[in-house]
Amino acid sequence: MTTLSPLSFFVACSPSLLPSSSKKPSNAPNRYRRNVSCNASNPQEQQPPQNRRDVLVGLGGLGAANAAAIFSYNPFASAEPVAPDVKGCNKPDLPAGAKPIVCCPPNLEKKDPIDYDIPKWETLRIRKPAHDYDDLENYKKAVSMMKSLPDDHPHSWTQQSRVHCAYCDDSYNLYGQTHTKLQVHFSWTFLPFHRWYLYFYERILGKLIGVPNFAIPFWNWDAPQGMEIPSIFTDKSSPLYNSLRNPNHQPPTLLDLNWNGPGDVDTSGDEKTNLITMYRQVYEAKRPLSFYGSPFNADTPGKETSGTLELVPHNTIHNWTGDITQPNLEDMGAFYSAARDPIFYGHHANVDRMWAIWKSFKRNDISNPDYQNSSYVFYDENENLVRVKNSDAFDTKKLGYVYRELDLPWLNAKPTPRRTKAQRKGMTVKKMDLPFTLKEKIVSTVVKRPKINRSRAEKDEKEETLVFSLQLDRTKNLKFDVLIDEEEDYKWANPKYREFAGSFVNVSSTLNRASTVTFSIDITDVLDQLDADDEDSIVVTLVPQYGNEVLIKDINISFLSLQEI
Ligand code: C2O
Repeated sequence: MTTLSPLSFFVACSPSLLPSSSKKPSNAPNRYRRNVSCNASNPQEQQPPQNRRDVLVGLGGLGAANAAAIFSYNPFASAEPVAPDVKGCNKPDLPAGAKPIVCCPPNLEKKDPIDYDIPKWETLRIRKPAHDYDDLENYKKAVSMMKSLPDDHPHSWTQQSRVHCAYCDDSYNLYGQTHTKLQVHFSWTFLPFHRWYLYFYERILGKLIGVPNFAIPFWNWDAPQGMEIPSIFTDKSSPLYNSLRNPNHQPPTLLDLNWNGPGDVDTSGDEKTNLITMYRQVYEAKRPLSFYGSPFNADTPGKETSGTLELVPHNTIHNWTGDITQPNLEDMGAFYSAARDPIFYGHHANVDRMWAIWKSFKRNDISNPDYQNSSYVFYDENENLVRVKNSDAFDTKKLGYVYRELDLPWLNAKPTPRRTKAQRKGMTVKKMDLPFTLKEKIVSTVVKRPKINRSRAEKDEKEETLVFSLQLDRTKNLKFDVLIDEEEDYKWANPKYREFAGSFVNVSSTLNRASTVTFSIDITDVLDQLDADDEDSIVVTLVPQYGNEVLIKDINISFLSLQEI
């Protein structure tokens, strides 16, 4: 295959080379302006596009040679980056029980989105942990000012929170399409979208109080000092307080990063298990796509997979914080309402910090042009409607901020096997045939592995991945856990054990209400540490913890290259 770098691709197809007859509207994202001439002038483009999503879910039956060909990087396989059609903003599709609201930004008829110019920074803003935050008075003042602006002002608290609703509950179509919605969760748009969202939130707060260097705090939930709701959010007289939170989870209740839902008898987590969970979800996610989430482009929406960080602890903390007396665990437990709670921004600042930390491990990153060029539209602190793209959000310093450096106590919090190989001998499993429905009942199935005893080099090159295809109602909060080579008993679904491989967690939202999604877990390390790499099949046990039933359509194992994108 001829290889052209993505860079030369873009140079050759720059918008200035477009025929003047291009009919794209002036407010179209750049990608639409370049595409026409690229198709015409680049013979590579005539190759049938590969379906990137199939690459991610690559079926276990693929031969190794075949798989290698599909997984090698091909810049021309890119379809279209995603962008919102802001001008066509619509009423959101809300979960049952939600009060009707409109989430579109105000004054759209008067504004056209313009490309955002990132300011040059003289000093960096430093975001600090909420439990040790020295700018509280400014933060309270700024939030009060936001809360006192009229609802239809782009800087008002109401509008800030509706940004989340618009991008998460189907207000926007993808630019250039009439039926496909833009949903920023469940895929690789999750991290960059929220980074930009917080960036403008912080800039607007700074502008309101005249402190250009104002920096928001982060909820340091990955360390023992931050494993409860930070006190700056629980003072009832503060604008940072919100009453719609789980009454059983008020300080000093310890945060449970693996919270098992309203019926969970243990309302409190434990520190050590939380640290192990951080290790599993952040340190062990080696492939960029397992950490970031699956590709999402304009050609293949609808089967998105969240990354490990998004599922746990991001989703679990949303559900843990939300009020169990509300129909959808509002505010934090539903995407349309989550950003009404000031704690949302503290939560997401730590999610964003985890992204920066993951990058510091020097793992591969994603260079796919669809990822780089996906874009969003926000109101900036000067009330300009601006378009920003993913590739400008990869380095926080470029956006003028850093996180205070803190210890990462989870970096050496490895899970340990509950049983040895010898103890696992003779284990009996009632095998379930696929598809099956997961509801209140623990279910096991045997999954065949494509290859055993791989060499170290093979393992470093390709990750063994357990891939689930499932169908669920996205409007419902839910969680199930995944165990490997473990007995069928809920009490073994304990995240501190190595046999516990991960969880699927849903926060109420409305993308394609009944969605088929893929969900994957990297298991090379898990099998090594269980001393199970010589077994030609593994037992996969699913433990439903709360929420509606899930139809498990398929479970298989595939090898995904560390470099696949
Ligand atoms: Cu957009 Cu924490 O969700």
